[in-house]
Amino acid sequence: MGKKSKYLVTAALPYANNYIHIGHIAGAYLPPDIYVRLKRLNDEELVFICGSDEHGTAIEMAALTENVTPKEIIDRYHYSNKESFEKLNIKFDIYSRTSNEIHHKTAQEFFLNLFDKNLLTQKTEKQLYSEKEKRFLADRFIIGTCPVCGFEEARGDECENCGSNLSPLELINPKSKITGDIPVEKETTLFYFPFGSYQEELSKWIDSKTDWKQNVINYCKGWFKTGLRERAITRDLDWGVKVPLENQNGKVIYVWFEAPIGYISMSKELFIEKGNPDGWKDYWFDKDTKLVHFIGKDNIVFHSIMFPAMLMAHGDYILPYNVPANEFLNFSGAKFSKSKGNGILVKDIVKIFPADVIRYALAVNFPETKDSDFTWDDLQAKNNNELAAILGNFINRTVVFAKSKFDGKIPSAEIKNENDEKILESIKLSASRVNEFIDKFRFRDGITEMMNSVRAANKYFNDSEPWKLIKSDKARCGSVINTCLEICHSIAVLINPLLPDTSKAILEILNKDESDLKWNKIGRRVLKQDTILGENKILFPQIEDSLIIRLNEEYSSKTEKLVETDETNLVSIDDFRKLELKVAKIMDCERVPKSKKLLKLKLKVGDKSKQIVAGISEYYEPEKLLGKLVVIVNNLQPSKLMGIESQGMLLAAKKNGELKIVTVEGDIEEGADVN
Ligand code: 2FM
Ligand code: ZN
Repeated sequence: MGKKSKYLVTAALPYANNYIHIGHIAGAYLPPDIYVRLKRLNDEELVFICGSDEHGTAIEMAALTENVTPKEIIDRYHYSNKESFEKLNIKFDIYSRTSNEIHHKTAQEFFLNLFDKNLLTQKTEKQLYSEKEKRFLADRFIIGTCPVCGFEEARGDECENCGSNLSPLELINPKSKITGDIPVEKETTLFYFPFGSYQEELSKWIDSKTDWKQNVINYCKGWFKTGLRERAITRDLDWGVKVPLENQNGKVIYVWFEAPIGYISMSKELFIEKGNPDGWKDYWFDKDTKLVHFIGKDNIVFHSIMFPAMLMAHGDYILPYNVPANEFLNFSGAKFSKSKGNGILVKDIVKIFPADVIRYALAVNFPETKDSDFTWDDLQAKNNNELAAILGNFINRTVVFAKSKFDGKIPSAEIKNENDEKILESIKLSASRVNEFIDKFRFRDGITEMMNSVRAANKYFNDSEPWKLIKSDKARCGSVINTCLEICHSIAVLINPLLPDTSKAILEILNKDESDLKWNKIGRRVLKQDTILGENKILFPQIEDSLIIRLNEEYSSKTEKLVETDETNLVSIDDFRKLELKVAKIMDCERVPKSKKLLKLKLKVGDKSKQIVAGISEYYEPEKLLGKLVVIVNNLQPSKLMGIESQGMLLAAKKNGELKIVTVEGDIEEGADVN
């Protein structure tokens, strides 16, 4: 056998400014927990790292809003979120925090390593400054209209509506998020990292990742197409990791630069705890380590482009082996949103349902390839119709039979036949498929396979008809029940990564310790004849309709808000008719000086001309647009973008970092109405 790989598994470090909700769990935390538990059953060497992301304007903003210190905020959410993970049996080897000194030191060393290699440039540029608040307005401290999609509450670092990465200077009508103050431009000196210099290497590296999820690859390619640029990696803020150089008072390292370094500093901490302070190097410096970052889709660029570029620049560390990003989990058709405070918090749901029921209901709905939906009714159905009716039923009917007909002991299997061996063999085969699916991050397929095994077990029970055999051939009946109990053990191992509490409960009923809790024991006989069975218990009590009705009512007040928001988005046909959508022809097109995103277009609409400024410069070369027939909103109130008047809006489609303007094919005169 060749050298076994080691796994270094990470889950996105959640910001400690909010309570985690089940959308987070389905996206970035339960998948790695299942993955890691399965690897451990296979005796793989691995560490599983997570912790709180405790810097950045997200934290400072929460502190300012509540008028408390950032420390108060991070303490509140760090400990609460840590407990939430524990209650769901999501078992990291370490759940640390980026406010720890070891993290500050590690991030500063990383920064200095790049600085010493002359990879960082220092540039003096204008940034937005609030005279009233006496501070630069970085990232989330500033909001304004997105130059790409027109969303009016885009943040200084990112537009939550269209996903564009922005810098504060690109926002239209920027203002302070806290006070509404209109900022002025003021010079400041920041450090920049040249992400563009790594584009070629990154792009080759991503090309070599043929087994990565398509959504991740597409997203990266979208970024490469636009072209990576240098980005500021320091900020004028108080809260964060200080820039480790002289004359840098009031400067911190940008949170997205230092947070992923948290995976390294937390690994260091873990091995210090283990009494092997150098042990982390065996992972981070060993080319055979498989570094797997589990994240939600909003974190893709940072884990598959930015952090890898930093690791390449540093040179000592391994690069990610895979970044299996999930899409989002919605709640009854509406989005979970940290900022809107809706959705189902982990700290609340764990008070209502057992961890395994929550884990199952989430896992069967993992948003692996597209957004998925969670509802209370579905959780009830999954518990009653699958967990109870299939899994609970098999364990219960086997144990009840053994208790009543074989004195509560494991009967002997002296009269085996080929059906017994066939079912054990099929469960073993199924286990190897589960293993393959989960190894490829196909959790939903893996779970279907697990449940199919349990269905097969029920079929074996039915086909063997032990209730008849007990009258005609007790010895053969004993062998069937013995086999069913062995299957119970196999199932306990098989479901262990997904349903650890249930697995434990089955072992207790079988009066079996964990010595055979190994993946390669699935489908094998491990039980001792005559062992007295433990107390039987109902593994999955029914979830009553009354509880679901109550939850639907309780949470509908939260969703109603969302629906209301959605409903305010609904427009009547009369409102729609107020919009004048027209076909226009692009006659001239040029870049707006000093803007990375804006193009100035001259258009012909019937016998009129007009000028539109559009945030599409990252997606189109100006000359490629000449002569195109596009669709515009003709009667939009004029506005100014970087001082240039824009007299309408261009329609465009955007997803996963790709943008396409809406064009009209065929023979139609510009000026034509669109409706
Ligand atoms: O999106 C978030 O919640 C970020 N705090 C994730 C950070 S992941 C890592 F890079 F630290
Ligand atoms: Zn936008």
